[in-house]
Amino acid sequence: MQLSITHAPLIAQGVAANMAGLDQSISRDVGLLDYSRLSDMMLQAWSPFQKGFFDGVFLGDRENFAELNDAIDELAETYGVTPTGIAVAWITRHPANIQVVLGTTKPNRVTDAAAGSSVPLTRHEWYRLFTAAGHVLP
Ligand SMILES: NC(=O)c1ccc[n+]([C@@H]2O[C@H](COP(=O)([O-])OP(=O)(O)OC[C@H]3O[C@@H](n4cnc5c(N)ncnc54)[C@H](OP(=O)(O)O)[C@@H]3O)[C@@H](O)[C@H]2O)c1
Repeated sequence: MQLSITHAPLIAQGVAANMAGLDQSISRDVGLLDYSRLSDMMLQAWSPFQKGFFDGVFLGDRENFAELNDAIDELAETYGVTPTGIAVAWITRHPANIQVVLGTTKPNRVTDAAAGSSVPLTRHEWYRLFTAAGHVLP
């Protein structure tokens, strides 16, 4: 499934379920995340750094994601990893145990991503990234 902090209907829908008039509330995958957890089925996240559908990466895009990049940079410093690592940590910290599929051609980005996969973001930090990306937290 396509999944990044900024393209996260898979996760964001359930956070704002049942809210009339709110786009985030619309289910586009018929409960796939819940089904995968109940069935012990591992999901894989592709385009983990893309803003949307091949729109480019959100990392460093301060024009559109200033608050998100501020939060990512701050957490990267806190945990001694790169922003790439924090973008990965946001996915791997989710209890569904999601695997991240990287598209990079740079070995150092693979190393950075792997380092982030074990960063234990707190719930507060995880939701801070979630809201900084523009998602609604009722
Ligand atoms: N099943 C499907 O429908 C589907 C759809 C899309 C993709 N996929 C699979 O999933 C894989 C991953 O998807 P993706 O390639 O979209 O993932 P991605 O890892 O989010 O994006 C990779 C692209 O982002 C660039 N990039 C990463 N970090 C960057 C940064 N900090 N600054 C600038 N550029 C950065 C990479 O450039 P560098 O090479 O310079 O790092 C590369 O061009 C694909 O290779 C493909 O195998 C499957």
